[in-house]
Amino acid sequence: MSANLRPSGQQPKNLATYDSAFLKACRREPVPHTPVWFMRQAGRSLPEYLKLREGVPMLESCARPEMVTEITLQPVRRHRVDAAIYYSDIVVPLKAIGIDLDIKPGVGPVIADPVRTRADLTRLRDLTPDDVPYVTEAVGMLTAELGETPLIGFAGAPFTLASYLIEGGPSRTYERTKAMMYGDPELWTDLVDRLAEITGAFLKVQIEAGASAVQLFDSWAGSLAPDDYRRYVQPASAKVFDAVAGYGVPRIHFGVGTGELLGLMSEAGADVVGVDWRVPLDEAARRVGSGKTFQGNLDPTVLFAPTEVVETKAREVLDAAAGLEGHIFNLGHGVMPSTDPDALTRLVDYVHTQSAR
Ligand code: CP3
Repeated sequence: MSANLRPSGQQPKNLATYDSAFLKACRREPVPHTPVWFMRQAGRSLPEYLKLREGVPMLESCARPEMVTEITLQPVRRHRVDAAIYYSDIVVPLKAIGIDLDIKPGVGPVIADPVRTRADLTRLRDLTPDDVPYVTEAVGMLTAELGETPLIGFAGAPFTLASYLIEGGPSRTYERTKAMMYGDPELWTDLVDRLAEITGAFLKVQIEAGASAVQLFDSWAGSLAPDDYRRYVQPASAKVFDAVAGYGVPRIHFGVGTGELLGLMSEAGADVVGVDWRVPLDEAARRVGSGKTFQGNLDPTVLFAPTEVVETKAREVLDAAAGLEGHIFNLGHGVMPSTDPDALTRLVDYVHTQSAR
């Protein structure tokens, strides 16, 4: 077992998954084939998902362990991916501590009373396992069903969560977020520090229930210049990674448009650096340096092209990854809702056969 994944010598909870291709790749060990999974593989394009979700609001579905288990398993059964990702959303821990929010179909998370002042911070109380009993229950059911297939737990990173809380919903420009960051750095620091504590606690719940890896989604961090990321965001994300460092589970760090931030995001404490499609993986490795696994990075819109094109582009990703110490094949961002599920299944087969060793 690689020492740097187990700083405290603690055993990961779920040893059944230890020899999976996915965890071997995370540890930069030789793999039988390049492991592959897709961000946002659960839900979205699958007809069996849409059928199950009929009449059940998104956030309600996240609080029903049987439904979470079934939706999480659907893409594993269908595509034979090498890892499952826990079906939830980045705003679930915020809802769990009492923030009034909803997920509007086609829009995303919407916050009833945005967080904009110091007084608003008091609404962000600590998260305990008792706030999310359905997560513990669903992860337990999932690890039993998944056997040797690892389950990835996840959370939203402090910056991305702060952007929803401050803006009140999705944003293209992050005006209010950046206004607080630049204009009231003390309030900003206290806010992202609070979110780091909540996020760290939420990841711990998933790991203690049996998740084999965790991914921190800082989806919108790419809107920041490197100096601002370093000053205003990296310490909070590092705090999240530190909170779970002792468990011996790999920690994946991902954001969109983060080509200029890859080194800093890696430094925050990632074992695996997620890369979007804008930077080839060999170039990403040059920017980050040694001792990391890379995850990515096929442009998700390539899946709308004919199969031969998908395969050519997937081959290019595998070729760019050939010299890396560890590679997990993924898209450069989430599966798009109108993606043909069969195109995903074919892509998994292609990566497995092309990379078989
Ligand atoms: O990866 C998976 O398959 C697991 C499930 C998952 C969801 N959200 C389910 C979901 C994961 C990992 C997320 C993470 C998430 N949520 C992120 C980070 C990943 C990324 O894409 O960058 C972000 C930024 C969010 C916030 C969010 N929630 C958005 C932008 C949306 C989409 C709104 C829309 O309808 O286009 C959601 C809603 C959401 N999260 C849905 C699902 C299945 C759709 C819900 C519905 O249609 O009812």
